[in-house]
Amino acid sequence: MTPWTHLGTAVIPNNGGELELTQRDKEFSIHLKGVRGELMNSRMHSSELALSELGCAHVKNTENAKVLVGGMGMGFTLAAALKAITASSNVVVAELVPEVIEWNRGPLGECAGNPLNDSRVILHLGDVAELFKAKQPAFDAVLLDVDNGPEGFTHGDNNNLYSLESLSAIRQTLRPRGVLAVWSGWHDPKFTTHLKKAKFKVQTKTVRAHNGKGNRYTIYLAEKS
Ligand SMILES: C[S@@+](CC[C@H](N)C(=O)[O-])C[C@H]1O[C@@H](n2cnc3c(N)ncnc32)[C@H](O)[C@@H]1O
Repeated sequence: MTPWTHLGTAVIPNNGGELELTQRDKEFSIHLKGVRGELMNSRMHSSELALSELGCAHVKNTENAKVLVGGMGMGFTLAAALKAITASSNVVVAELVPEVIEWNRGPLGECAGNPLNDSRVILHLGDVAELFKAKQPAFDAVLLDVDNGPEGFTHGDNNNLYSLESLSAIRQTLRPRGVLAVWSGWHDPKFTTHLKKAKFKVQTKTVRAHNGKGNRYTIYLAEKS
Protein backbone atom coordinates (compact mmCIF):
# COMPACT_ATOMS: atom_id res chain seq x y z
CA MET A 1 0.00 0.00 0.00
CA THR A 2 1.23 3.53 -0.81
CA PRO A 3 2.56 5.23 2.35
CA TRP A 4 1.12 8.53 3.56
CA THR A 5 3.06 11.66 2.52
CA HIS A 6 3.19 14.65 4.84
CA LEU A 7 2.02 17.81 2.98
CA GLY A 8 1.84 20.40 5.72
CA THR A 9 1.36 21.38 9.36
CA ALA A 10 -0.63 24.33 10.68
CA VAL A 11 -0.90 25.85 14.14
CA ILE A 12 -4.49 26.49 15.24
CA PRO A 13 -4.74 29.98 16.81
CA ASN A 14 -5.28 30.37 20.57
CA ASN A 15 -3.42 27.19 21.58
CA GLY A 16 -5.84 25.03 19.62
CA GLY A 17 -3.13 22.49 18.71
CA GLU A 18 -1.72 21.57 15.33
CA LEU A 19 -3.33 20.28 12.15
CA GLU A 20 -1.47 17.95 9.84
CA LEU A 21 -2.33 17.32 6.17
CA THR A 22 -1.25 14.03 4.59
CA GLN A 23 -1.88 12.37 1.21
CA ARG A 24 -1.90 8.79 -0.08
CA ASP A 25 -2.66 8.49 -3.81
CA LYS A 26 -5.90 10.50 -4.30
CA GLU A 27 -6.85 10.31 -0.61
CA PHE A 28 -6.22 13.23 1.76
CA SER A 29 -6.37 13.22 5.54
CA ILE A 30 -6.38 16.00 8.14
CA HIS A 31 -5.41 15.02 11.70
CA LEU A 32 -5.34 16.96 14.90
CA LYS A 33 -1.83 16.16 16.10
CA GLY A 34 -1.64 14.13 19.29
CA VAL A 35 -5.30 13.06 19.06
CA ARG A 36 -6.13 9.57 17.85
CA GLY A 37 -8.25 9.43 14.75
CA GLU A 38 -8.77 11.80 11.86
CA LEU A 39 -10.54 15.11 11.80
CA MET A 40 -11.33 14.57 8.11
CA ASN A 41 -10.72 12.07 5.33
CA SER A 42 -11.49 12.97 1.72
CA ARG A 43 -13.07 9.55 1.00
CA MET A 44 -15.81 10.11 3.62
CA HIS A 45 -17.73 13.24 2.87
CA SER A 46 -21.43 12.41 2.46
CA SER A 47 -22.33 14.03 5.79
CA GLU A 48 -20.43 17.23 4.88
CA LEU A 49 -22.47 17.43 1.66
CA ALA A 50 -25.69 16.68 3.55
CA LEU A 51 -25.03 19.65 5.86
CA SER A 52 -25.42 22.00 2.88
CA GLU A 53 -28.15 20.06 1.10
CA LEU A 54 -30.33 20.09 4.23
CA GLY A 55 -29.34 23.56 5.45
CA CYS A 56 -29.84 25.25 2.06
CA ALA A 57 -32.97 23.37 0.85
CA HIS A 58 -35.16 26.40 1.58
CA VAL A 59 -33.09 28.77 -0.63
CA LYS A 60 -32.63 26.63 -3.73
CA ASN A 61 -34.85 28.99 -5.79
CA THR A 62 -34.09 32.22 -3.91
CA GLU A 63 -32.33 35.08 -5.71
CA ASN A 64 -29.57 36.89 -3.79
CA ALA A 65 -29.53 34.40 -0.94
CA LYS A 66 -26.55 34.56 1.41
CA VAL A 67 -25.13 31.49 3.11
CA LEU A 68 -22.38 31.26 5.73
CA VAL A 69 -20.19 28.14 5.91
CA GLY A 70 -17.84 27.71 8.89
CA GLY A 71 -15.18 26.25 8.36
CA MET A 72 -13.47 25.29 5.14
CA GLY A 73 -11.91 21.86 5.94
CA MET A 74 -11.63 20.05 2.61
CA GLY A 75 -14.28 22.23 0.98
CA PHE A 76 -17.07 19.66 0.56
CA THR A 77 -19.69 21.67 2.47
CA LEU A 78 -18.73 24.82 0.56
CA ALA A 79 -18.95 23.02 -2.80
CA ALA A 80 -22.36 21.56 -1.91
CA ALA A 81 -23.64 24.99 -0.76
CA LEU A 82 -22.58 26.50 -4.10
CA LYS A 83 -24.46 23.73 -5.88
CA ALA A 84 -27.56 24.29 -3.74
CA ILE A 85 -27.95 28.05 -4.35
CA THR A 86 -28.82 30.24 -7.34
CA ALA A 87 -26.33 32.09 -9.56
CA SER A 88 -27.13 35.44 -7.89
CA SER A 89 -26.46 34.10 -4.39
CA ASN A 90 -23.24 34.10 -2.33
CA VAL A 91 -21.48 31.91 0.20
CA VAL A 92 -19.25 33.41 2.87
CA VAL A 93 -16.76 30.79 4.03
CA ALA A 94 -15.10 31.44 7.41
CA GLU A 95 -11.85 29.63 8.19
CA LEU A 96 -9.72 30.11 11.28
CA VAL A 97 -6.50 28.51 10.01
CA PRO A 98 -4.86 30.32 7.05
CA GLU A 99 -2.95 27.18 5.96
CA VAL A 100 -6.25 25.34 5.43
CA ILE A 101 -7.10 27.92 2.77
CA GLU A 102 -3.59 27.59 1.24
CA TRP A 103 -3.99 23.79 1.16
CA ASN A 104 -7.34 24.19 -0.61
CA ARG A 105 -5.71 26.51 -3.16
CA GLY A 106 -3.13 23.76 -3.71
CA PRO A 107 -3.45 19.99 -4.11
CA LEU A 108 -6.27 19.55 -1.55
CA GLY A 109 -8.55 21.75 -3.68
CA GLU A 110 -9.20 19.01 -6.22
CA CYS A 111 -11.12 16.92 -3.62
CA ALA A 112 -14.19 19.14 -3.79
CA GLY A 113 -13.62 20.62 -7.28
CA ASN A 114 -11.75 23.78 -6.16
CA PRO A 115 -14.81 25.63 -4.78
CA LEU A 116 -12.68 28.65 -3.77
CA ASN A 117 -12.43 29.49 -7.48
CA ASP A 118 -16.18 30.13 -7.68
CA SER A 119 -16.83 33.89 -7.97
CA ARG A 120 -19.80 33.57 -5.57
CA VAL A 121 -17.44 32.78 -2.66
CA ILE A 122 -16.48 35.45 -0.14
CA LEU A 123 -13.62 34.40 2.15
CA HIS A 124 -13.52 35.39 5.82
CA LEU A 125 -10.14 34.43 7.23
CA GLY A 126 -10.75 34.31 10.99
CA ASP A 127 -13.11 32.99 13.61
CA VAL A 128 -16.65 32.41 12.34
CA ALA A 129 -17.91 33.85 15.65
CA GLU A 130 -16.76 37.32 14.52
CA LEU A 131 -19.56 37.28 11.94
CA PHE A 132 -22.25 36.96 14.62
CA LYS A 133 -21.22 40.10 16.52
CA ALA A 134 -23.22 42.48 14.29
CA LYS A 135 -26.49 40.77 15.31
CA GLN A 136 -28.07 42.07 12.09
CA PRO A 137 -30.01 39.81 9.70
CA ALA A 138 -27.48 38.92 6.99
CA PHE A 139 -27.74 35.21 6.23
CA ASP A 140 -30.42 32.84 4.95
CA ALA A 141 -28.44 29.86 6.19
CA VAL A 142 -25.56 29.37 8.62
CA LEU A 143 -23.85 25.98 8.23
CA LEU A 144 -21.48 25.12 11.08
CA ASP A 145 -18.91 22.33 10.91
CA VAL A 146 -16.04 23.74 12.92
CA ASP A 147 -15.79 20.89 15.37
CA ASN A 148 -16.77 17.35 16.12
CA GLY A 149 -20.03 18.67 17.50
CA PRO A 150 -21.59 21.25 19.76
CA GLU A 151 -19.32 20.50 22.72
CA GLY A 152 -16.08 21.66 21.08
CA PHE A 153 -13.13 19.41 20.34
CA THR A 154 -10.47 20.82 18.04
CA HIS A 155 -10.59 24.27 19.53
CA GLY A 156 -11.64 24.99 23.13
CA ASP A 157 -13.00 28.42 22.24
CA ASN A 158 -15.63 26.89 19.97
CA ASN A 159 -17.61 25.86 23.05
CA ASN A 160 -18.67 29.50 23.27
CA LEU A 161 -20.27 29.20 19.83
CA TYR A 162 -22.93 26.93 21.26
CA SER A 163 -23.75 28.99 24.37
CA LEU A 164 -27.25 30.43 24.66
CA GLU A 165 -25.86 33.92 24.14
CA SER A 166 -24.04 32.91 20.95
CA LEU A 167 -27.01 30.94 19.58
CA SER A 168 -29.25 33.94 20.06
CA ALA A 169 -26.64 36.15 18.32
CA ILE A 170 -26.62 33.65 15.42
CA ARG A 171 -30.42 33.78 15.37
CA GLN A 172 -30.25 37.55 15.05
CA THR A 173 -27.90 37.27 12.05
CA LEU A 174 -30.43 35.05 10.26
CA ARG A 175 -32.99 36.53 7.92
CA PRO A 176 -36.67 35.54 8.49
CA ARG A 177 -37.09 31.74 8.13
CA GLY A 178 -33.31 31.39 8.01
CA VAL A 179 -31.76 28.10 9.09
CA LEU A 180 -28.83 27.29 11.36
CA ALA A 181 -27.48 23.82 10.51
CA VAL A 182 -24.91 22.22 12.84
CA TRP A 183 -22.90 19.07 12.04
CA SER A 184 -22.30 16.77 14.99
CA GLY A 185 -20.50 13.48 15.52
CA TRP A 186 -23.18 12.41 17.99
CA HIS A 187 -26.83 12.96 18.84
CA ASP A 188 -27.43 14.97 22.00
CA PRO A 189 -31.07 15.71 22.88
CA LYS A 190 -29.78 18.37 25.32
CA PHE A 191 -28.53 20.41 22.37
CA THR A 192 -32.01 20.29 20.81
CA THR A 193 -33.41 21.69 24.06
CA HIS A 194 -30.68 24.33 24.09
CA LEU A 195 -31.57 25.42 20.53
CA LYS A 196 -35.24 25.60 21.49
CA LYS A 197 -34.33 27.84 24.43
CA ALA A 198 -32.68 30.15 21.88
CA LYS A 199 -36.11 30.28 20.16
CA PHE A 200 -35.34 28.02 17.20
CA LYS A 201 -37.73 25.45 15.73
CA VAL A 202 -35.56 22.31 15.70
CA GLN A 203 -35.35 19.07 13.70
CA THR A 204 -32.52 16.54 13.66
CA LYS A 205 -31.44 14.30 10.78
CA THR A 206 -29.19 11.26 10.90
CA VAL A 207 -26.70 11.10 8.04
CA ARG A 208 -24.07 8.50 7.12
CA ALA A 209 -20.36 8.97 6.49
CA HIS A 210 -20.16 7.54 2.97
CA ASN A 211 -22.88 6.75 0.42
CA GLY A 212 -25.47 5.60 2.97
CA LYS A 213 -22.89 3.53 4.89
CA GLY A 214 -20.42 3.96 7.73
CA ASN A 215 -20.67 6.08 10.86
CA ARG A 216 -23.89 7.86 11.73
CA TYR A 217 -23.76 11.61 12.36
CA THR A 218 -26.39 14.16 13.38
CA ILE A 219 -27.34 17.37 11.66
CA TYR A 220 -29.34 19.81 13.76
CA LEU A 221 -31.59 22.02 11.66
CA ALA A 222 -32.71 25.05 13.62
CA GLU A 223 -35.13 27.42 11.90
CA LYS A 224 -35.74 31.02 12.85
CA SER A 225 -39.51 30.71 13.05
C1 LIG B 1 -14.21 19.36 10.24
S1 LIG B 1 -13.49 20.64 9.32
C2 LIG B 1 -14.79 21.20 8.23
C3 LIG B 1 -15.06 20.24 7.13
C4 LIG B 1 -15.90 20.81 6.02
N1 LIG B 1 -17.32 20.76 6.39
C5 LIG B 1 -15.70 20.08 4.70
O1 LIG B 1 -16.67 19.88 3.98
O2 LIG B 1 -14.58 19.71 4.38
C6 LIG B 1 -13.46 21.98 10.48
C7 LIG B 1 -12.82 23.25 9.91
O3 LIG B 1 -13.22 24.35 10.73
C8 LIG B 1 -12.10 25.17 11.00
N2 LIG B 1 -12.41 25.91 12.24
C9 LIG B 1 -12.35 25.46 13.52
N3 LIG B 1 -12.80 26.39 14.37
C10 LIG B 1 -13.17 27.47 13.61
C11 LIG B 1 -13.71 28.75 13.92
N4 LIG B 1 -13.99 29.09 15.18
N5 LIG B 1 -13.95 29.62 12.90
C12 LIG B 1 -13.68 29.27 11.61
N6 LIG B 1 -13.16 28.06 11.26
C13 LIG B 1 -12.91 27.17 12.25
C14 LIG B 1 -10.95 24.18 11.07
O4 LIG B 1 -9.70 24.81 10.90
C15 LIG B 1 -11.31 23.22 9.93
O5 LIG B 1 -10.81 23.67 8.70
